[in-house]
Amino acid sequence: MSVANLGRRATLLLLPALLVGAVMAGAGKKASAEDTDPTAKKERCATRVAIAFTGKETTPAISADPQGSVDALVADPAFVERFSRFINHEFNETPGAMEKEDASYFLMKYVLENKLPYKDMFLGQFKVDGNMQGNQTTVTADPEGLGYFRSQPWLLRYAGNELEGYKLVTAYRLMQNTVGLTLVASTNAPGAAIDTAARTSNPGCVGCHGPADKAGAAPWFALDRAARVLTKVRRQGNTVTFTPPTEAPQMVADKMVNNDKELVQALVDSPNFSFNVCRLTFKFLYGRAENVCESKVFDACVNEFKSKGTIQSALVSVAKDPGFCQ
Ligand code: HEC
Repeated sequence: MSVANLGRRATLLLLPALLVGAVMAGAGKKASAEDTDPTAKKERCATRVAIAFTGKETTPAISADPQGSVDALVADPAFVERFSRFINHEFNETPGAMEKEDASYFLMKYVLENKLPYKDMFLGQFKVDGNMQGNQTTVTADPEGLGYFRSQPWLLRYAGNELEGYKLVTAYRLMQNTVGLTLVASTNAPGAAIDTAARTSNPGCVGCHGPADKAGAAPWFALDRAARVLTKVRRQGNTVTFTPPTEAPQMVADKMVNNDKELVQALVDSPNFSFNVCRLTFKFLYGRAENVCESKVFDACVNEFKSKGTIQSALVSVAKDPGFCQ
């Protein structure tokens, strides 16, 4: 893939209104008696709401007022479990080798149960950790916390293998988790061809990694710039340590940032953050990305999320729209 293509692809991924998938299910189908019978329609709506939120069949309470029951469903333990698993699946390519590595699952659960703002996932003062065996994972208060981004099991999981200790894998995860950036790494095989100098000068690499030259043009997500404001990883035998960054500040996410916290803050403050919340909302409720005909519902979701801050508010706004049950 050429660098120009990469740039375009990354931009496209961040513009929800341009997403494809405009084919409407059932378009052109003739309305049948069942479609118009209000009782059957309401029961279909109840099933849809119940499955979407809890993964289970409808209950008398949901059947009585399907879309009206959505406010209560976002506090239902079955929903909390289902949504936390969904987020963990979206934020990690595979399940963690140990339970405590699935920090996004545990913190999502905590944030939902305590009705906290969604941004606390990434900026809240927490620590997500377990015991030596990797179990009994808990969320605890930690003034040094940055969501789960400074929790040891997560840091170790995503430290990467870059030869000089630049945490490119961490840098990418931070962006993927917060704003949904999706890049397909073209290579991560260790060896001479992938040293830092090659990566930040080779035209086939700078489109994602950014040039070594600080003033050089780079995409907002330039992975090597982001990695330069994170700690570096050092491995000696079985011992892994993280050393403070020495090459900050860097221009990333359209801001000059000095450290991980400022980088995450810049990502959370960007419009891509609320877009990604509503993209996740659609994916959870519909099992697919939003399509062009849904831009009104999508924009309403973004506005609702911006004013209330909880991911529950985004889910409620989409699920209460009449379109959800049509
Ligand atoms: C399409 C964007 C893209 C391009 C182009 C790209 N990379 Fe990457 N690179 C990534 C991403 C994303 C990661 C993080 C991978 C991960 O999370 O596993 C990465 C990670 C790396 C790593 C670190 C792997 C680790 O385990 O720490 C190296 C080294 C690397 N890339 C080298 C290169 C080189 C050399 C080139 C050019 C030949 C290149 N990359 C081109 C996206 C890209």
